[in-house]
Amino acid sequence: MKIDRIVLRHVRNFASVELEPDGGLNLITGPNAAGKSNLCEAIYYAAKGFPLKGERQRDLIQWGESEALLEFSLSGDQIRLHLNGHARAKTIEVNHEKRNQSDVSALLRVLLFTPDELQIIKGSPEQRRHFLDRSIADLKRDYRAMLLEYEQLLRRKSALLRSERPPVELLDVYDEALSERGAWLVAQRRAYVQKLNGQLSQRYGQICGQEAHLQVHYETTLGESDDLRRELARQLAQARREELRRQQTLVGPHRDDLRFDLNGHDLRRFGSQGEQKSALCALLLTQVELHYERFGDHPILILDDVLSELDRARTQRLLQLLPQNLQIFLTHTASAEEELPSELRQSARRLYVITGGRIVQKL
Ligand SMILES: Nc1ncnc2c1ncn2[C@@H]1O[C@H](COP(=O)(O)OP(=O)(O)O)[C@@H](O)[C@H]1O
Ligand SMILES: [Mg+2]
Repeated sequence: MKIDRIVLRHVRNFASVELEPDGGLNLITGPNAAGKSNLCEAIYYAAKGFPLKGERQRDLIQWGESEALLEFSLSGDQIRLHLNGHARAKTIEVNHEKRNQSDVSALLRVLLFTPDELQIIKGSPEQRRHFLDRSIADLKRDYRAMLLEYEQLLRRKSALLRSERPPVELLDVYDEALSERGAWLVAQRRAYVQKLNGQLSQRYGQICGQEAHLQVHYETTLGESDDLRRELARQLAQARREELRRQQTLVGPHRDDLRFDLNGHDLRRFGSQGEQKSALCALLLTQVELHYERFGDHPILILDDVLSELDRARTQRLLQLLPQNLQIFLTHTASAEEELPSELRQSARRLYVITGGRIVQKL
C-alpha cells in the first residue's frame, strides 16, 4: 500500500500543500510547530475517520476557514474528503463516487507511532489498554464499535450507581449486557496478545542481536476462564455491594492491563532504558508483520517524533529491519537540514522540509 499523492487545502496550518511521497522512507523535518504532526494527522484522520487527539472534526479545518479538503491518490484509487465546518458535515468520495468512512479505511490502512504510543511500557495501564484497543481495531473491524458500546454501558451504569437508590433489576440488566460485550472484548484481546507473543522474542533478538525471551501478559481479573461471559457475570454480581459503595464498575476489560516480561522479569519495573526501547522496536516490527499477515499488504507506517523516544541507533536499526517496500512517513524535529542525523538522511528516499505550514521537497 502506498500513497502516490497528497493534497491538503485549509487543513490545520496548511493553506495549500501538494506532495508526491516515495513508496519508501519519507523523511519530514522542520522546526517545532511547523506542521509535521499536522501532516501525519491528516493521513491518520483520512484512514480512521477521527482526529488523532480526540478532538472535533472541525478542528482540522484551518482557523478562519470554513472548509477543508484532503485528497489522497493510491494505486489507482482516489480518495477525497471534504469537511464543511458550518454544516459540521463530511463528504467522502472514492473515485468520484460518494462512499462512507469504512470504504476509505479499507483502502488506506495506517499504523501510527508517536511518543504517546511509545509510552506503552512505562506509561499507565490506561495507555496500555488504549494501545491494545487501537491495535486490535486496526485488524478487526467490529472491535471499535463493540468497545464504544461497552464504554457507553459503563457510563450509563456509573450514572445509575451514583443515583439515590439504584434499582437492582436495572443494574442486573446492565451487568448482563456488560458481561456479554466485556467477554467478547477480553477474548479478542487475549487472541491478539497471543499473536504478538508468536513473534516478539524473535523481533527483539533482531533488534539487539542476542537471544531473549520477550512476552506480553494480558492481565485480566477473568484469569484463564473458558467461559468468559459467565465468569464476568459472576464477578460483577460478587462486586455489586462494593460497586454501590464506590459508585463504579470494578471488574471487566476496562480494568485490565498488559505486562511485558523480558527473560521472566517485568520490563517496566526492572528493564533498563535500552531494553525498554528495544522492546518497543520489537513491538513495532511485530505489528507491521501482523498487518501484513492479516491483509496481505503492508500498512502505511507513520513514525511521528519517535526518534526522541527510541534514539538514533535504534531508529536506524528499526529502519533496516522494516520491509523495503513499506511506505514510511518519519518526522524529525530539526531547525536546519544540517542537523539531521546523517544515517537518517542516507536512508531517506525523499526529504521534505516543513516551515510554518509550507512544505518544500529537498530530495
Ligand atoms: N486548525 C488549525 N488551523 C491553523 N493552525 C493550526 C490548527 N490546529 C493546529 N494548528 C497549529 O499548527 C502548528 C503546527 O503544529 P504541529 O504539526 O503539531 O507542529 P510540529 O511540526 O511541531 O509537529 C501549531 O502551531 C498549531 O498551533
Ligand atoms: Mg509534532
